[in-house]
Amino acid sequence: MTVNLTVKVAGIEMKNPLVTASGTYGFGQEYRDLYPPEVLGAVVTKTIRLRPHPGNPPPRVAEAPAGLINAIGIPSKGWDHYVREEVPRLRQLEVPIIQSIVGETLDEYVELTERLTELGFLAGIELNLSCPNLRAGGLSLGLDPDMVYELVRRVRAATDLPLLAKLTPNTADVVGLARSVQAGGADGIAMINTVRAMAIDLRTRRPVLGNISGGLSGPAIKPIALYQIWEVYEAVDIPIIGMGGATDYRDVLEFILAGARAVALGTVNFVDPSAAPRILRDLGRYLEENGIDDINDLVGAAHRT
Ligand SMILES: Cc1cc2nc3c(=O)[nH]c(=O)nc-3n(C[C@H](O)[C@H](O)[C@H](O)COP(=O)(O)O)c2cc1C
Repeated sequence: MTVNLTVKVAGIEMKNPLVTASGTYGFGQEYRDLYPPEVLGAVVTKTIRLRPHPGNPPPRVAEAPAGLINAIGIPSKGWDHYVREEVPRLRQLEVPIIQSIVGETLDEYVELTERLTELGFLAGIELNLSCPNLRAGGLSLGLDPDMVYELVRRVRAATDLPLLAKLTPNTADVVGLARSVQAGGADGIAMINTVRAMAIDLRTRRPVLGNISGGLSGPAIKPIALYQIWEVYEAVDIPIIGMGGATDYRDVLEFILAGARAVALGTVNFVDPSAAPRILRDLGRYLEENGIDDINDLVGAAHRT
C-alpha cells in the first residue's frame, strides 16, 4: 500500500508533515551530517531580526523535568550577515524554507518582510508574535488581539508569500489571537511557542537563568499544546502547524488528530538529532499498518463524532 504523506499548509506543498521548530534547527546546516534537510516537509529557520542583537545574558538554558527552559532572547547578527552568510546556503536546499522573523516595531516586521520577499527564494514567512520583549501599551505585543491583527494586516499588504503567525501560549485567550491573525490575513498558524517558566538554584538561592524567566519546551508542555491546538482548530479555517514536546510518531499523530496539518519538531532535536527521519519512518509504518492511505484524513479527526 502506498500512503500519502504530502500535505499543503498555507499554500506550501510539503512532501510530509514534519517541519522544524524555529530556533532548534539553525539555518538548515547544523544537522546535515546526520540527514539531509530534504527529508523534511519544510525547514523553519531561526528567527531573524533586522538589526544585530546580543540576546539575553547567560545562563540561557536550564533543564526541567521532561523539558527545557530557555531564555536565548533571539540573538541576531542582523540583516547584512543573514544575506551574506545564510541566504546562499539556504538557497541550495531543495526543501521549502520558511523564514521566521521578529521586529522591535510593526515597521520592522514590514521592512523585514519586504526585504525577504525581494530575495525571491522563500516558501513562506513565519511571524514570531511570541516575543515577550515587544511591548505595546504595557502588554506584550503578541498578547493583544488588536495589535496582532494590525501587525498581520500590515505585513500581509507587504508580501504575496504565504504568512504563518506563531502564537504565544501565554494567554488566557489563544482563540482570540487566532481569530485576529486569520482576520488580518494570515495563511496559517504555528503554535505553540514556549510556556513562561523559571528555575531556581538552591545552591545560590537565585534564579538559574540570567534573564530570570524563560520559556519551557519539550514533553512537559505537550498536553497544553494539544488542547490549545484543539481549541484553535475549532475556531479558525486556516491550517495549523502544531508543536510542543513532540518526541515520536505518536505525539505527531496526536497533534494531527487535534487539528494540526503539519507538526514541528523542536526540543527533541537536541535529545535525538536524528529524530526527524526516525519519526517519519515510524509515521509511514503506522499509516500502512492501520490501512490509512492519506495522512490528511487524520487532520482534526479527533473532533469528529
Ligand atoms: C533553544 C530554543 C530556541 C528557540 N528559538 C525560537 C525562535 O527563535 N523563534 C521561535 O519562534 N521559537 C523559538 N523556539 C520555540 C520553538 O520553536 C517551539 O515553539 C517550542 O520549543 C515548542 O516546541 P518543542 O517543545 O517541540 O521544542 C525556541 C525553542 C528552543 C528550545
